[in-house]
Amino acid sequence: MEGLDWLSLFVRWFHVIAGVAWIGASFYFIWLDNSLRTPPEWKQEKGIKGDLWAIHGGGFYEVAKYAYGPESMPATLHWFKWEAYTTWLSGFALLIIVYYFGASAYLIDPSVNALSSQTAILSGLGIIFGGLALYELACRSPLAKSPKLFALFLIMMICFASWLTTQLFSGRGAYIHVGALVGTIMVANVFLNIMPNQRKMVAAVAAKGEIDPAWGASAKLRSVHNNYLTLPLLFIMISNHYPMTYQHPQNWLVLIAIMALSAWIRHFFNLKHQDIKKPSILVSGAAGMLLLAIWVSVPVSQQESTAAASAPQNDQTALSADDKAVQTLITTHCTSCHAASPTDDIFKVAPLGVKFDSWQDIKRYAPQIYQRSAVSKDMPFMNKTGMTDEERQVIAKWFKEQ
Ligand code: HEC
Repeated sequence: MEGLDWLSLFVRWFHVIAGVAWIGASFYFIWLDNSLRTPPEWKQEKGIKGDLWAIHGGGFYEVAKYAYGPESMPATLHWFKWEAYTTWLSGFALLIIVYYFGASAYLIDPSVNALSSQTAILSGLGIIFGGLALYELACRSPLAKSPKLFALFLIMMICFASWLTTQLFSGRGAYIHVGALVGTIMVANVFLNIMPNQRKMVAAVAAKGEIDPAWGASAKLRSVHNNYLTLPLLFIMISNHYPMTYQHPQNWLVLIAIMALSAWIRHFFNLKHQDIKKPSILVSGAAGMLLLAIWVSVPVSQQESTAAASAPQNDQTALSADDKAVQTLITTHCTSCHAASPTDDIFKVAPLGVKFDSWQDIKRYAPQIYQRSAVSKDMPFMNKTGMTDEERQVIAKWFKEQ
């Protein structure tokens, strides 16, 4: 348990570092492309179609983009691909460590769908790689000729994935799978399209051959897709801190709305870099987020309490005396926060979606309960419910004897 936590810490840390490098490079190059302006005559004669000047870190930079390619290959050509690959590899490792090794606690929520670990993991992988296959097929179909129609297809596909995952997995598990699908599509765009097309361009320059404009155009389209997917993906990466989103009864709609609004806001910045100012996009995006926040906050408590009322009653008959003692401890010290309808003054939604309402829930989270209340002892949160060391020992003893 603790070894896995350390592994998860290192992999997550690495994932964030790689992701910052990837998305940072993506933002920088999209900004660069949008900020290029017509260069002076002498540069145009060299085949440069746009240039720009920038100042950063105490120096001036002059950047030029060629319409096709330079006359001869430069001695050093920088590529940007390992940022993307390492982000994906570490993200996938994290998915396995957290959600697949911990499937029964994190991926499967019996109140959504009582899948076996194996079925849940296979469904998750099926959604990620099936979705990727569908996207790649669409990219090679006539659909790809119309960027607008293609965008519509991509949106529909992601909406469907949001709905499907929330029917199968816990709220967190569903969100992270949509994120994994989006991230996999993004990295596949780099691996399967942008890189091969760039390799063709480099080979053509080296052989002094012709560059087919279609190579660059296709890579550019994929890179625009990636650009619009960055903000939604970043939201999903931090979403597991915000149970009011993934615990909402219509969590799939909440996810779709946040993804759509954040891509819309990304659109504002893309236009702005091209000197097209459309503040209406930013204002409508922000208003949309506000409306969403209001919609998510208001009805949730009513809907949750009806859900709690219809939840199956605990089967007390099979509990031993030790079990009952542990259940009493948890009801006393934990369920003020970790319940379908928390009574805590601050936490109105179960933190991280972790609920201990029934004995089944307690069994499901037993390793985490033991870890946080008896080993790291950071639960109850701030020891708000005043759990004593003796009580922590009762939980430790119960867990070890299971
Ligand atoms: C005052 C509210 C509160 C109480 C009481 C409380 N918790 Fe928590 N719990 C939280 C919060 C907030 C988090 C999320 C912390 C974070 O984001 O790391 C959390 C997270 C957890 C997690 C981590 C879940 C995960 O998926 O990583 C576990 C396990 C947990 N609590 C167990 C317990 C146990 C066991 C008790 C009772 C002994 C308890 N908590 C009492 C607020 C509370």
